[in-house]
Amino acid sequence: MNSLLVARGVTKSYPMAGGRLEILKGIDLTIEKGEAISIVGSSGAGKSTLLHILGTLDRPTLGKVLHRGIDLTKMTDEEVASHRNATMGFVFQFHHLLAEFSALENVAMPLRIGGDAPIVALARAEEQLIQMGLKDRLHHRPSELSGGEQQRVAIARSIVRKPEILFADEPTGNLDTQNAARIQDLLFELQKSMGLTLVVVTHDTAFAARFPRALRMRDGQWA
Ligand SMILES: Nc1ncnc2c1ncn2[C@@H]1O[C@H](COP(=O)(O)OP(=O)(O)OP(=O)(O)O)[C@@H](O)[C@H]1O
Ligand SMILES: [Mg+2]
Repeated sequence: MNSLLVARGVTKSYPMAGGRLEILKGIDLTIEKGEAISIVGSSGAGKSTLLHILGTLDRPTLGKVLHRGIDLTKMTDEEVASHRNATMGFVFQFHHLLAEFSALENVAMPLRIGGDAPIVALARAEEQLIQMGLKDRLHHRPSELSGGEQQRVAIARSIVRKPEILFADEPTGNLDTQNAARIQDLLFELQKSMGLTLVVVTHDTAFAARFPRALRMRDGQWA
C-alpha cells in the first residue's frame, strides 16, 4: 500500500549571480492518510516553498513528489492542475476570496470549475457554509465579513470538493487569539470528520504543538 504523499530528495534552487541559491536541500517526507502534521521554522527556512511543492503549486528543481505512488512531477501542467483540484485543498494567511462574489458564490466556485451545474454547486456550497456556522452570512461579500468569518469561508471553499489533503500556510496568522483558536479547532474537527490529511505551516508554536507530528525546518532542511 502506497503512502498518501511522499517527497523524495526535493530540492529547490534559483539561479543567481555566481551560482544558485539553494532554498530546499533534499527534503524527504512521508505522509500517511489522515495524518495531521505541522511545520515550523524561522522566516526564510523554506516552509512555504515546500508546502507549494507538496501541493503541486510549484515544481522541485530535483527530486519527486508521489501521491499514492503516482509521480506528480512527471505530469504536465494541465494534468497536475486537474489532479490538484480533485484531491487537494489550500488555505493561506490571507483568504484570497473573490471580492465581487458572495460567500456562497466563492464556495461554489471550485465545484463549478469541477463541472457541477450551478444549481448543484450552489446547493452544495450552501450546505458546507451552514455546516460551518455561516448560515446567516451566505450572501455577504468578503468585505462584509469579519476576519474570522472570511477565513471560515476560505476553509469552506478549500474543502467543498472533499479533498484528501488540506494544505494550510499560516491559516491563523492574520487573526486575533480568539478567532485563531476557532480556526485551529475547525481544522482539527474537519480532519476527524472528513478523514482529511492536514499539513499546516505556522509560526504559532502552541498551535504547532497540538499536532501529533510536529516538524521543524531550518535553512532548507529538517532541523
Ligand atoms: N522566486 C524566488 N527567487 C529567489 N528566491 C526565492 C524565490 N521564492 C522564494 N525565495 C527565497 O526562498 C527562501 C524561502 O522562502 P519561503 O517563502 O519558503 O520561506 P518561509 O519559510 O515560508 O518563510 P516565512 O515564514 O517568512 O513565510 C527565502 O529566502 C526567499 O527569499
Ligand atoms: Mg512562508
